[in-house]
Amino acid sequence: MSAAKLIVGNWKMNGLLSDSQPRVEALKSAASGKFEMVLCPPATLVQACGWWLKGSAVKTGGQDCHAQPSGAFTGNVSAQMLKDIGCAYVIVGHSERRQYHKETSADVAEKAKAAHAAGLVAIICIGETDEERTAGRANDVVSKQLAESVPAGATPENTVIAYEPVWAIGTGKVASTDDIKGIHALIRDKSAVKAKILYGGSVKGSNAAEILHLPNVDGVLVGGASLKAEEFLAIASAA
Ligand code: 13P
Repeated sequence: MSAAKLIVGNWKMNGLLSDSQPRVEALKSAASGKFEMVLCPPATLVQACGWWLKGSAVKTGGQDCHAQPSGAFTGNVSAQMLKDIGCAYVIVGHSERRQYHKETSADVAEKAKAAHAAGLVAIICIGETDEERTAGRANDVVSKQLAESVPAGATPENTVIAYEPVWAIGTGKVASTDDIKGIHALIRDKSAVKAKILYGGSVKGSNAAEILHLPNVDGVLVGGASLKAEEFLAIASAA
């Protein structure tokens, strides 16, 4: 596990060929020894982003993959296909996949396994809902998701854990530094794999430095703010 902070942008279902090129090319100069940058655009843009980023240190990743390498799974994309178009990473188990596509932690573990088999780094997302936190169950929920979502064969080289409290995603409500410290320490302690641990949820230029320098925070997973190159670069430069 390198000491460089990992700065990952998740564009979710945003971006067209027509508006993405300038945004991506603005990131090309971003390579720095203090951080590594990964861009996860929608599947339709991954290959173009790879071309636009050629010659830079910024890597690309998918936002999801199927557990099988190929087959009759209409509408899905496999880890092998992402690797084929130049990806180095893939996000699995994002809360939006868990919520809208009813993915379980067992499903997520299968996807992470497929990512590993294809030679991708799996960014495995976990995190509690507002209801679970209010009920005092955040630690239990995160521990259970961690235990069930990380497959056998995970190593610090092929796996990254992303803690994204669901209530902090896209809401502007960032978790408190104490909450982040507490959960990241828990993940570090409970995880058999000494992988990088990212925080995600309303990260922006103005709060990135504080978050990135907390103990056990090895980087950030950024949604909305990664769509603005200047803001995303400001986050990275806080590393
Ligand atoms: P926001 O940064 O928009 O809150 O999204 C976080 C996220 O879900 C990244 O995967």
